[in-house]
Amino acid sequence: MLRGIARDQFPILEKVRYYNTCSMGAMSLTNQLALQRFTEDWNDYAGFGWNKEHGWVEDVEHARKNFAKLVGAKLDNIAFSFGNSVATGSITSSFDFKTKNEVIFSDLDFPSTPANLMALEGRNVKYKVVKSEDGLTVSADDYKRLMTDKTQFISVCDVISNTGFRIDRQNIIELAHLQNIPIFLDSYQSVGSIQMDVKKLDVDFMASGCLKWILGGFGISFLYVRDDWIDKLNPSSIGWYGLDSPFEDLFDKLRDTLHRPTTAEKFQFGTPYPVGAILANSGMEMIMQHTVKKIEHYNTKLCSYLIDRCKDAELDLNTPIEENQRGHIINIKAKDASNVVKKLTELNYFLDMRAHGIRVSLHFYNNQQDVDQLIDEIVTTAI
Ligand SMILES: Cc1ncc(COP(=O)(O)O)c(C=O)c1O
Repeated sequence: MLRGIARDQFPILEKVRYYNTCSMGAMSLTNQLALQRFTEDWNDYAGFGWNKEHGWVEDVEHARKNFAKLVGAKLDNIAFSFGNSVATGSITSSFDFKTKNEVIFSDLDFPSTPANLMALEGRNVKYKVVKSEDGLTVSADDYKRLMTDKTQFISVCDVISNTGFRIDRQNIIELAHLQNIPIFLDSYQSVGSIQMDVKKLDVDFMASGCLKWILGGFGISFLYVRDDWIDKLNPSSIGWYGLDSPFEDLFDKLRDTLHRPTTAEKFQFGTPYPVGAILANSGMEMIMQHTVKKIEHYNTKLCSYLIDRCKDAELDLNTPIEENQRGHIINIKAKDASNVVKKLTELNYFLDMRAHGIRVSLHFYNNQQDVDQLIDEIVTTAI
């Protein structure tokens, strides 16, 4: 019996059936405390919140440390950012694209990174799109076929948000590295529920926000940059948190060159949101307390249970059934998916319609009963 982990920590589960972590993680009691602490800090200290005794600077630093731990990185390789779009922009602003002017992404990706890469057209950059033949999967070889000696950068979304397809990220990284091409991983739908070791993967860049599987809410995201790229790249799009000592650089000495940090902090923009950092810490610490290994194992089993129930109920899927080809999102085909989702929502099932199907995501607080009730409801009422 898959009973769910720490369900009593998530008050929303008493009111609704929640299957929408891939949109936003449920709020925990520790998230509530974090938000309350920020409300009190702001109310009591306002701008003095930045002073050491109130700890906002330390909260942001602590969030970088927590994220580093979560993905197997060193602190120096992590920058705080404001979203995956922003993180991609930091990296693309670092390349000159003069000799190598091609970039690659797939038509299954979440639009954050593709938008950035397509916008480079004005800088004479040619984008190439890996097209999924079945609308569900792409392979490492599909990327390989588009790689040339002009490829500067490849962006890969490791779990697809609409259907849950999980790509063989290690294979793509290895193939790209054979041709000295860097890979940017958009891991927004995997960090927190699928184990990640950036060093073992040898990935060049990786970004994730905290809204979803990390259970950390809005306001902060993170960018990992591998050591050699920190040395080689100087982003042209930064803010004062991307400088070594901004006030000296810009005001006291009016130096004519920027003094950039020797860490991934050189990819940062301006004032971080302490509320985002405080919330993210509460989420990341909860995830690490249960361990991503245990969470991944649990979520995978629960998704397999859902797939079995769909099979028995003769419901087809828009998600590969092989365990190593899926994250923790399952998309169930339905003829009139938007109407089905509307009916389910009226019955207090929180989920979304995507790719003409019913998108269900399961995190460690979901249980077998959630799955049973949903499938029974789809079969008896909704379809
Ligand atoms: C895979 C993936 N990447 C990126 C994002 C959002 O990125 P951004 O921070 O640019 O809004 C999402 C959000 O749904 C996502 O699912």
